[in-house]
Amino acid sequence: MDEVVRPLTESFGPSGREDKVRNLILEMIKDHIDGYEIDRVGNLIAWKGNGGDSVVFVAHMDEIGIVVTNEIKEGFYRIEPVGGVSPYTTLSKRFVLEDGTIGVVGVEHETVEDYKKSLSDLTFDHLYLDTMGKRVKIGTFGVYHSSYQRSGEMMMSKAMDDRISVAVLVELVRNLDDPRRRFYVAFSIQEEVGLVGSSVLAYPLDVKEAIAIDVTDSADMPKAFKRHSMILGKGPAIKIKDKMSISDRRIVDKLIKVAGENDLPYQMEVLTLGGTDAAALMRTREGIPSATISIPTRYIHTPSEVVHKKDVENTVKLLMGYVQKV
Ligand code: CO
Ligand code: ZN
Repeated sequence: MDEVVRPLTESFGPSGREDKVRNLILEMIKDHIDGYEIDRVGNLIAWKGNGGDSVVFVAHMDEIGIVVTNEIKEGFYRIEPVGGVSPYTTLSKRFVLEDGTIGVVGVEHETVEDYKKSLSDLTFDHLYLDTMGKRVKIGTFGVYHSSYQRSGEMMMSKAMDDRISVAVLVELVRNLDDPRRRFYVAFSIQEEVGLVGSSVLAYPLDVKEAIAIDVTDSADMPKAFKRHSMILGKGPAIKIKDKMSISDRRIVDKLIKVAGENDLPYQMEVLTLGGTDAAALMRTREGIPSATISIPTRYIHTPSEVVHKKDVENTVKLLMGYVQKV
């Protein structure tokens, strides 16, 4: 697992800059698929099997990040979030830019009062990226500079969202050799800035169903969100609803059935925030019934997103069982 998760999560790929991740995925799956295509906007779509299209599983390649907006003075830059990035999370963190520059985020203040005021209502207007004297171009993208860590069965990385689901799909095509019908694994671009890739990804496919694989907020830390129930290590979460879509009920029922038949743990998910590629897949062409399977994750959209290895393995097994059912 580590040999797949480490390179995928350490790879550089903020929204709009997914090239490196796409190449890496292709390298990992090319000997295990029957074909692939990179569509016009950069989604990677691979397939396996014959006898009619069945289902497409989608994980997004991109991660959240930052982009340089303007120079304050040499070595100091304003930044804009790429996707859902909190200014609080960026403060004092290191970023690596696409040209290799390393920078750290600081906050403006001339007095202690200033500092307190900035911190109590932090916005990107008061933050800057200090590139240690290096000059960078406007429009340069960056991601958290944060390495993959493993502790027992817990795994930590800057980009579990959504490379851990990419890893799931890589494992799926590597381990499933004789699907009943053709299924697709697809890797979307620009999910974090508005489900962009998944809005067009499934258009040329003749699939009957689409399932997004993504992370979801877990609530198993002290004082976590009171209205969330997801727990690390208790199995993949079958999503009922988030802020952007409601999973197709028939797919949900089938997932529960497959989990039962294969003795796989699972949990039900109602997320009071967020959204996944499923919301866009559902709106494709005349409509594709869609759902989401989630991997419970702590500290989403921070440099230290944490998941449980068992949940990842059981998600692979759930998808393997599902493919043989559709
Ligand atoms: Co995300
Ligand atoms: Zn995601």
